[in-house]
Amino acid sequence: MTQIREAILPPTGEVLLRYMRDAFYDHQGVHSSNTYSDETVRKALDLGLIVTRGKRHTLTSQGYIVGNVAKEYCNWVDHGRLMPTPKPPNSMFDGLDVLDLGCSFGRWLWEFQRTAKSVVGLELQLEYVELGYALARCEGIEPPLIHQTHVEDLDRYVEPESIDFVFSRLVFNHVNIRVTLPKVAKVLRKGGRIWFQVETFRDAFHRIFEGEMRVRSRLRAAFAVCNTFVCTLTGRQMTLPVKGRMHASHRVVYPKLEWWKRSLERLGIEEFKIEHHDGGNATFSARKVR
Ligand SMILES: C[S@@+](CC[C@H](N)C(=O)[O-])C[C@H]1O[C@@H](n2cnc3c(N)ncnc32)[C@H](O)[C@@H]1O
Repeated sequence: MTQIREAILPPTGEVLLRYMRDAFYDHQGVHSSNTYSDETVRKALDLGLIVTRGKRHTLTSQGYIVGNVAKEYCNWVDHGRLMPTPKPPNSMFDGLDVLDLGCSFGRWLWEFQRTAKSVVGLELQLEYVELGYALARCEGIEPPLIHQTHVEDLDRYVEPESIDFVFSRLVFNHVNIRVTLPKVAKVLRKGGRIWFQVETFRDAFHRIFEGEMRVRSRLRAAFAVCNTFVCTLTGRQMTLPVKGRMHASHRVVYPKLEWWKRSLERLGIEEFKIEHHDGGNATFSARKVR
C-alpha cells in the first residue's frame, strides 16, 4: 500500500487514478474509454492492481479497492469538487465537533473541516484510510483524523458527549444498528444533531424483482428483505458470513423511516425530520433533546 500511496501523488498520480477508475467501471461491465499509455498500464501491473488474463487486464482484489476509491475521487474532481446532494446545511457543523461514521477516504471530512471546530472519522477498510491520507496530500489539505475500526466500536475512540454533529452516509444499513445507535446517542452532546442517509426498503425490493441480477445477488437481496422483517420486529439483525473482497459479513437491513424515528426517539434523539427522499435513499436529521 505504501507504494500505491506514493504512486497516486502528483505530478503523475492522477493519470493512474483515472486509469483505475476506468478499470473499475470496465470490471463492473460499464463501458469506459481506454486511452492510457503503456507506461500507466505497466505501473498498475507492477503495483499489483491489475493482472493480465489472456488479452485482457483484470483488477486484483487490491485493485478493486483502489479502483473504488479512484472512482469516487475522480468523479468528485470532475464535478468541480462539489459534494453530492443532499448536503447538510453549514449551520449543522460550522464551529462544531463533527463525527463521520463510515467515512471511506474522508471526502466529507475534507468539506466539514473547512469550517468545523474538529472532525473525526471512523472507517473499517484500512486501504480507504491509507489512500485518504495520500489523496488529502494530492488536494494540498490537512488529512483529517480517521480511525480504522468498526463503527460499532465508536465508543472506544470518541468520548461521551463530545460531538455536536454525527454524519453518516450510506453506511447504517450495513452496521449492527442495535449496538451502534445507542453509542451515537452517547457521544452526542445535548442539542447535537445527526444527519443520516440510508437506503430504503423499496430499493431492496425492486432489486429482487427487477433488473439483470445474478442468482447470488438476488439471494443476498432476498436475505436483506427477511433480515429487515426480523430487525423491524425484534431490533436484531441476522448475519451472513461472506467470502469477498471487502467486508466479511453481510447483515444489511432496510428499515422503514418510521422505525428509524422510533428507535432514535427511544434514545432521546427527537425532532426527526426527513430532509430528502427519492425512493431509493432517504436522508433524515434529528436532535438529541435529553
Ligand atoms: C457506500 S460507502 C459510503 C462512504 C461515505 N460515507 C460516502 O458517503 O462517501 C460505505 C462505507 O462504509 C464503510 N463501512 C461499512 N460497514 C462499516 C462498519 N461496520 N464500520 C465502519 N465502516 C463501515 C465501508 O467500508 C465504506 O467505506
